[in-house]
Amino acid sequence: MSNNSVVNITNLLKQFPVGGDYFTALSDINLNLENAEFMGLVGPSGSGKTTLLNIIGGLDSPTKGNVNVLGMELGSSSHNERANLRKTKMGFIFQSYNLLPVYTVFENVELPLILNKVETQERNRLVTQAVDWVGLSDKIDSRPAQLSGGECQRTAIARAIVHKPTLILADEPTANLDAENSHHIMNIMVRLNKELDTSFIFATHDEKIMAYLRRIIHLEDGQIVKDEHFDNPKSGKN
Ligand SMILES: Nc1ncnc2c1ncn2[C@@H]1O[C@H](COP(=O)(O)OP(=O)(O)O)[C@@H](O)[C@H]1O
Ligand SMILES: [Mg+2]
Repeated sequence: MSNNSVVNITNLLKQFPVGGDYFTALSDINLNLENAEFMGLVGPSGSGKTTLLNIIGGLDSPTKGNVNVLGMELGSSSHNERANLRKTKMGFIFQSYNLLPVYTVFENVELPLILNKVETQERNRLVTQAVDWVGLSDKIDSRPAQLSGGECQRTAIARAIVHKPTLILADEPTANLDAENSHHIMNIMVRLNKELDTSFIFATHDEKIMAYLRRIIHLEDGQIVKDEHFDNPKSGKN
């Protein structure tokens, strides 16, 4: 494992109990992610993408194997240590946006900073900056119901980046978006990756996302069948 390692997984097995038996969702997973990668877990529905992303995010635990994320060995960490790692160094983006409907764009984006006990003035500065990054400054006082799907997802991206995380996990972030909005949000994430060196892991089967990646890990039936690295004119060199 190099010093730049963001995620290092060895011999991961994940089984879910089903009835009196168990279902193997992931097996023989070995992977290393270096700093500032732009990577996708790609495979058909049911291949284990979300399960793997949740394990990397510390939201689900391995049955066997070692998972090291940003220097923390998740298997030997406490619930609080994992929560703290998520809160300070990770950002999450979901297909369904997960915005709080009664909160404005500003208030939704501010939440991670409140959790991190950032003081008011600095919160204002960081929220304004993140909302500007995603091009929503003119909607900062709107509520989710007043926004389009693309604007909701851009709000969710601003919330995921406001505390300047090292690693962002995005599960099917374009699934509810049209092509134009999908390309728009991918360009925002490419810019973050380039300018702030933020590492990205996407779980996706959307070709519009794949077109931007510099690394694709192909999953089939819970196993890695191919791991490709390449330069991509849409997102730069590795
Ligand atoms: N909590 C669970 N209990 C039982 N089986 C599960 C659970 N979560 C996921 N699975 C199964 O694990 C497999 C992989 O699921 P998932 O990681 O969601 O796939 P993907 O995100 O690639 O569509 C699927 O067959 C799914 O039904
Ligand atoms: Mg999934």
